[in-house]
Amino acid sequence: MSNDAILKIKDKEYSLPMIVGSEGETAIDTRKLRNQSGCITYDEGYGNTGSCQSDITFIDGEQGILRYRGYPIDELALKSDFIETTYLIIYGDLPTSEQRAEFARLLSANAHVHSGMIHLLEGYSRDAHPMAILSAMVNSLGCYDPHLATNDHKHDLENFSEASAVAISKVRTIAAVSYRVSKGLPVIYPKEGLSYCDNFLHMMFSEPNQDYVATPEVSHALNLLLLLHADHEQNCSTSTVRMVASSGANLSASTSAGICALWGPKHGGANMAVIKMLESIHAEGDDGSRFVEAAKTGKGGKRLMGFGHRVYKNFDPRAKIIGQACEKLLDSLGIEDPCLDIARHLESVALKDDYFIERKLYPNVDFYSGIVMRAIGIPLNMFTVMFAIGRMPGWIANWKEVASDPKGKIYRPRQIYTGPVKRDYVSIENR
Ligand code: CMC
Repeated sequence: MSNDAILKIKDKEYSLPMIVGSEGETAIDTRKLRNQSGCITYDEGYGNTGSCQSDITFIDGEQGILRYRGYPIDELALKSDFIETTYLIIYGDLPTSEQRAEFARLLSANAHVHSGMIHLLEGYSRDAHPMAILSAMVNSLGCYDPHLATNDHKHDLENFSEASAVAISKVRTIAAVSYRVSKGLPVIYPKEGLSYCDNFLHMMFSEPNQDYVATPEVSHALNLLLLLHADHEQNCSTSTVRMVASSGANLSASTSAGICALWGPKHGGANMAVIKMLESIHAEGDDGSRFVEAAKTGKGGKRLMGFGHRVYKNFDPRAKIIGQACEKLLDSLGIEDPCLDIARHLESVALKDDYFIERKLYPNVDFYSGIVMRAIGIPLNMFTVMFAIGRMPGWIANWKEVASDPKGKIYRPRQIYTGPVKRDYVSIENR
């Protein structure tokens, strides 16, 4: 008996092959359906569409499971760090000590940005949004290292180790420099010998005559935050990276497009929106209960930011981890943040409310990440930039999958046209 799915359109049957993933996920392969039947499948927002086969990340949204290359996120959060996890995501396996040392060497060697880029950064207006600067600057990386970004995937892959290290290392420097420039502060350059996260904090918060030294708790919290954002299968920004890569575009162009996609409030911009929401609830003297009621009506586009997810219909496992880390960090720093109390209250009210229960809306990673970033000292308009630094390994790994596929097709969805039917041109004096 065939395992194919059978689709009946009018009185004709079509046999469609099934694809089964390594975790038993199944898909109906409709690639040949249009040629056979004239029909396309319609799935606005791609909620039920598999756009690729990928070896990188597994999510089971119903069970609240997230694994990078097979490793559960909670185990990585406990035992690994951002750079080791970055290596895992990009190269497929945890590094040996030699591989890790070589990766660290490449990151250090590529920590500085070209002086031309510093001039460009200094040219932005003070109130320019750091996400606009970041996307432009990441795309510009290809202008300063043209051999790493040729739009010839074969050539780009030959230089992949260096290009990916450039992207991972310099995105952090660009982010910190853009912050310093926007504040009118002198640029602080990367310092040899510091870990990835400590070096970022040094470039953000040191002064020419006084080094900022991160406490182990702050350093750990930043590591964890980036690790939890490192990949998340075919979300909006990662699909964008793959879409752009599918045209043959290079790594910096493709990841820059991912940064633009991440910027929106329904995606990476949600961490900023959460803090704004918590602050306004606090300013209005609400404990969160009134806001939850308003979010249920959806009036004025109100939503409980940091809640709900396209894929998770259960707790986002990242939200649990960051929620616990948040309490520990604030305790260690002696910070009492009223937003944390409001967030805890919002969570407990929403989790008992039928509206949220019926729609399976749970806290997502952004619900607590903003409170962590604020405690570290990251300004609000840099929150989504932090998400972008964390997501870089996932974008790079996905770019590599697309670039390495010799039979890869350009991504080109179809549409159902709903505009006017054919009509004749009318000259301007007769309109
Ligand atoms: N507050 C109140 N109602 C909500 C919320 C929310 N946060 N999220 C979804 N709903 C309702 C929505 O109004 C709809 O109700 P109804 O069926 O009565 O029309 C139902 O739940 C389904 O919502 P949807 O918009 O069709 O769901 P989606 O899968 O398209 O959207 C989402 C997912 C994340 C965009 C959405 O839940 C949302 O806007 N959440 C707030 C923003 C947010 O926290 N985004 C960060 C996502 S996690 C970070 C990342 O991976 O990018």
